[in-house]
Amino acid sequence: MSNSKFDIRDFRGALGHFPTGVTVITALDKDGQPIGCTASSFNSVSIDPALVLWSVDKSAFSAAIFEKSEYFAVNILSESQVDISNRFAGRGEDKFKDISYKSGLGGAPLFDGCGAQFECKTWNVYEGGDHLIIVGEVQKYTHDDSLTPLVFSKGSYAVTSPHQGKRTENTSNIGNEFLDDYLLYLLHSASSKFHKDLYPKLFDECNVTPEQWRILTILSESSAISIQSISEVAVQPIGELKISLQLLAEQELIKSTDNDVCLTAKGKILQNELFVVAKRHEESMLTKLTDTQATALKKALKAMVED
Ligand SMILES: Cc1cc2nc3c(=O)[nH]c(=O)nc-3n(C[C@H](O)[C@H](O)[C@H](O)COP(=O)(O)O)c2cc1C
Repeated sequence: MSNSKFDIRDFRGALGHFPTGVTVITALDKDGQPIGCTASSFNSVSIDPALVLWSVDKSAFSAAIFEKSEYFAVNILSESQVDISNRFAGRGEDKFKDISYKSGLGGAPLFDGCGAQFECKTWNVYEGGDHLIIVGEVQKYTHDDSLTPLVFSKGSYAVTSPHQGKRTENTSNIGNEFLDDYLLYLLHSASSKFHKDLYPKLFDECNVTPEQWRILTILSESSAISIQSISEVAVQPIGELKISLQLLAEQELIKSTDNDVCLTAKGKILQNELFVVAKRHEESMLTKLTDTQATALKKALKAMVED
């Protein structure tokens, strides 16, 4: 029974508007066995001394171990490490099966391919409601600046990309011949313009968020699909996905059979409305192109993304 004065799901939804990175925090238990937990609560605290913090749910299997551990390591995940994040978001043992790692201070596991790693000595553990706040003093760290961080935002995994900004009177005449004709810049500007306009439309006209739209679109393509498959295609952790699915089920837009999920009749009607809004928006984005140019553009983009 919850004592919270808020609706917990809504409160979590509000917190999800603050995007974070994704870490796996590791240590060794008293028998020398590795433990690890996916955590987005990591943050910096102090530069001198070098302190960082994260918070662990008291009900997590590893909480009592981290509470007593003299050392822990923070593995900051990069965009290609969604699988590691999902694996360490599961509960309990055997998370290290078939995974290679090096041992850091106190034996805490360090994975390959992370954007940064901090090897910490536990500085203090504080009470934090249903979580423990663990502060560590960084003893050693590394970072690989060639990697892009994995982001967690509004319950889904994401990646960062530079903000497109807005040209003002002062900057409108600053040209850059290379950038203005460079494909990456053009693709990014077009994509940014496209979704900035589309998502508010989907919400205003159909009351659907981008995250919900992604799930409904995945479901529209098949008669029934497993939660695990939706999680992979929507790139959303299982725990968060289940919350999104619960919301959609309460609105009678989806239904579950065993471990599979499918659209209801009401869900199919909504999905058709979303499809119409999306297509109308796509047409408005392509008005400056002839039909032949639009077809050629899509064909070229498909060829580019094919493996
Ligand atoms: C992206 C993401 C971020 C998470 N952040 C935290 C966190 O900051 N603290 C926490 O206790 N659990 C967090 N979790 C949930 C834990 O990873 C999950 O409860 C896991 O089962 C804990 O492992 P354990 O029970 O083996 O200790 C997060 C999960 C995901 C997918």
